[in-house]
Amino acid sequence: MLRDFLDSLVMSCGAAARRLGLMSSSVLLAARHRRCRAAWEPHLARTRELVARAAADCPGRGLAVVVGSGHLLDVPLDELAARFRQVVLADVVHPWSARRAARRLPNVSLLEFDVTGLHPAVLRLCRDRVRAPLPAPAPPVLPGPRPDFLVSLNLLSQITIRPVSALREHLADPDEEALKALARGLVEAHLAWLSVAAERVCLVSDYLRVVRGNAGELARIDLLHGAALPPGEDWEWLLAPRPEARADADILHLVRGVPNYSAAVTHIE
Ligand SMILES: C[S@@+](CC[C@H](N)C(=O)[O-])C[C@H]1O[C@@H](n2cnc3c(N)ncnc32)[C@H](O)[C@@H]1O
Repeated sequence: MLRDFLDSLVMSCGAAARRLGLMSSSVLLAARHRRCRAAWEPHLARTRELVARAAADCPGRGLAVVVGSGHLLDVPLDELAARFRQVVLADVVHPWSARRAARRLPNVSLLEFDVTGLHPAVLRLCRDRVRAPLPAPAPPVLPGPRPDFLVSLNLLSQITIRPVSALREHLADPDEEALKALARGLVEAHLAWLSVAAERVCLVSDYLRVVRGNAGELARIDLLHGAALPPGEDWEWLLAPRPEARADADILHLVRGVPNYSAAVTHIE
């Protein structure tokens, strides 16, 4: 508890993200990582390896942007900083680890960036408690020149959670179908943005939650609300080994890594 409180004191986070609870989410993620470090490491190592491989295959060496950089657990930062002239870590929350990295490496900087672009509109609706119309997802605008390399890093399944739960909690009469459509729209808008966001794009995202007990699977939950990912490399992330979330079951996420997003999308068209 004390450690979580101290973590929150040294985070930088904009007012909108803070009010949506994203700073608390970041503190909780760090705490769960401390408890489940060994279970998470294969997933984190696999992510770092895939991102480093994708970066090594990227022709441009100017600007790299990591969206969803968070605590840098899954970011091969030294490799990126050695390969690209400039590396921007983009997230709504920058914990101490990211701030320290940006001090240590002269070509690494931090950008407070809401990849949905919708946090202020969501907060306005919550404040006014009005149900409709919900904001329409739109591609975000990254400040600065077009990146040579952009990574969307284990954030796609996260971008819907806090905005949708805030609307569900605060609207006077929330429309469940509209909230589901908003969640799917946010995921699809992010995927559409990845097709144009940079010269080379790498995506890593969890997409399916599996609850696995002794007798087999107890539940499967689509983390992307019906949206589909292009083909890539799949692996399991043991997110919550028992008894972290449940005494009778482990919770796993299936993760997909796509080193060259445009090539993968073209492949299925
Ligand atoms: C599961 S974490 C990814 C792991 C992260 N790379 C790490 O090592 O901690 C998801 C990240 O997405 C960020 N995030 C959530 N919603 C976001 C948004 N709308 N825009 C930008 N970042 C967001 C969170 O702050 C968090 O750092």
